Amino acid sequence: MFVLGWYMHELPKGGPKVSSFDLFDLGLFTFESSKEMSARSFYFLLHKSIGVTIFFLVLFRIYWRLTHKPPKMLTSMSAFEIKLATAAHHALYLLMFLIPLSGIIMSIGSKYGIHWFGIPFLPGIDNETLRDLFKEFHEIFGQILLLFFILHFAGALKHALVNKDGVLKRMWFHK
Ligand code: HEM
Repeated sequence: MFVLGWYMHELPKGGPKVSSFDLFDLGLFTFESSKEMSARSFYFLLHKSIGVTIFFLVLFRIYWRLTHKPPKMLTSMSAFEIKLATAAHHALYLLMFLIPLSGIIMSIGSKYGIHWFGIPFLPGIDNETLRDLFKEFHEIFGQILLLFFILHFAGALKHALVNKDGVLKRMWFHK
């Protein structure tokens, strides 16, 4: 979603209308659409459709997390480390929720609204202030999530390579 967001954002408005799209111009995958449109429109539609799907998956994940207890934190971790990890987990959940939500509100503010893989999902109200405000939020939340993701990844690596405790194992599928 990040790569798609950055890529589509750079595409020119009003480009030639075609019905075949080479994903990221890499020559690896080609998408076909039933009607001709510019590459920008196609990738925006794709980003929004995948994003709405992710939003509902995140809602389900949050429901699952609230109804299922995770394994306990390791006793080798200090109280400070436990607090830091818990705060980072809360921030990650919040951002996973806020990023697609801000994208949805931004798109409601635009004149296009949202189609979910071609099916009308939410209409646009063409309100520039709402669109621009939530566009800013979408970008800022995305940058904060990237930062938290890097910290989270670095923390997991440190536990695996330096501390050599069971933190990475605890994050994996087996208990
Ligand atoms: C699910 C997670 C999502 C992620 C990680 C994500 C990420 C991004 C990123 C990185 C950008 C580029 C921002 C920039 O210009 O620097 C972007 C743009 C955009 N996203 Fe998302 N997005 C998500 C979900 C959604 C959803 C659900 C929608 C709407 C239904 C949406 C609508 C948009 C639109 C319209 C833009 C283009 C804004 C513009 O340049 O005019 N996004 N997104």
